[in-house]
Amino acid sequence: MSEQKDTVGVIGVGWVGLVTAACFAELGHPVIARDILQEKVDALSKGDVAIHEPGLDDLIRRNAERLTFTTDMDELLGGARLLFVCVDTPPTYSGDADLSRVRAVVQELPEDSDHVLIMKSTVPAGTGESIRRDMPGLSYVSCPEFLKEGTAVKDFMNPDRVVVGADAGDEGAAAAVESLYRPLGGEILRTDVASAEMIKLASNAFLATKISFINEIANVCEEVGADVGQVAKGMGLDERIGTSFLRAGIGYGGSCFPKDVSALKMLAGNTGYHFQLLTAVIEVNELQKRRVVGKLEKHLGSLIGKRVALLGLAFKPDTDDMREASSLVLAARLQGEGAEVVAYDPVASERAAELLGSVEMATSATEALEGADAAVLVTEWGEFAELDWAAAAGRMNRALIVDGRNFLDPKALTEAGFEYEGIGQTVSSPRPAAAS
Ligand SMILES: NC(=O)c1ccc[n+]([C@@H]2O[C@H](COP(=O)([O-])OP(=O)(O)OC[C@H]3O[C@@H](n4cnc5c(N)ncnc54)[C@H](O)[C@@H]3O)[C@@H](O)[C@H]2O)c1
Repeated sequence: MSEQKDTVGVIGVGWVGLVTAACFAELGHPVIARDILQEKVDALSKGDVAIHEPGLDDLIRRNAERLTFTTDMDELLGGARLLFVCVDTPPTYSGDADLSRVRAVVQELPEDSDHVLIMKSTVPAGTGESIRRDMPGLSYVSCPEFLKEGTAVKDFMNPDRVVVGADAGDEGAAAAVESLYRPLGGEILRTDVASAEMIKLASNAFLATKISFINEIANVCEEVGADVGQVAKGMGLDERIGTSFLRAGIGYGGSCFPKDVSALKMLAGNTGYHFQLLTAVIEVNELQKRRVVGKLEKHLGSLIGKRVALLGLAFKPDTDDMREASSLVLAARLQGEGAEVVAYDPVASERAAELLGSVEMATSATEALEGADAAVLVTEWGEFAELDWAAAAGRMNRALIVDGRNFLDPKALTEAGFEYEGIGQTVSSPRPAAAS
């Protein structure tokens, strides 16, 4: 007879909650997932997954019998003791994390709750301590999530590490969480709650810092005639540095890095500590997107009336998430300069259209490029590497491309007839010959 597995409760079925629910169901656990949006719950109950996340639909379909979606908190509390909190923690106007949804969840718990609240939402250090102070009977574990959109299912099922933070008195709850994750392999790191909360914020802030660092190196490369790709490769071969997150481009976006970097900076500021490095990381990232405008002007002069095609709108490939996508800033800047903006994304166009009302949406890359004075590659979708660029050059008014992700092959693009501008590359502006 197969062993009966613990029922897992999930609160908030967005990117993190839905992946958490589907993956624990795949591991054989009955899962009750609760969201406040009736429409979302109805759709999920019918197997309709509204987000684009590779492998997720399959997982949900395959495990439909083990997955229950509901809006009813009592159904969740009655059915599951282990409750993963996966609600959103967006930034407030002050740049701090907005904990109102987390607080709303806590307020719905009975005062004598014997549940284990497992915090997956990214929260500032100190959040767990304050929840425990308010609800002394509750067991509390911090278990931050490190999945990446686009590879979320794979990341969840093959974690680099699982962080389980618990304070004195909650050792049993921590052990229960550890045993849920043990079948996945990966190192399980036991810490106190505040350290677990800091690990998540510090990890995202460090990755964002790496991106802003290589982007500044790219900008210097452009001035001195060096190639940032070769520089990054040479740096990355040093095992103390590593190759990941050293690809220069037009900056980071998405639902996590911008808000988490800001939340950590503000968390430090609220304690009286000025986190200078993160202030620079944020500013570099803001300015990096805007450099595209200068690159276009270098070739086209004024952008007034120029038709610019944006290729890719999602904040990164393999997702339709538009939160803090670089394309939003770029489209606004280009329109601000008087350009006419047309855009295409393989999966995010529908979500993007809601945010980019005045941008013309094309149904293919070829359609977007038709008659354009320039193209900007914003998101490195695989299909853009496969495009017939020579044919595209023939359809454009001017075959100029700014490759905002250093994704395309500059030599191939130049041979296809393009004027090519990357980030931190010297393809279109070769080093001047030494004076004789
Ligand atoms: N998206 C990522 O890649 C990622 C990765 C790691 C960590 N995180 C963190 O995980 C958390 C969730 O992120 P997300 O991207 O999944 O958010 P999301 O916005 O996609 O989903 C949040 C869900 O919570 C629901 N919700 C809000 N209040 C609720 C309540 N009281 N009860 C039940 N449901 C409620 C919302 O309706 C929504 O469906 C955030 O703190 C985020 O920083 C996100």
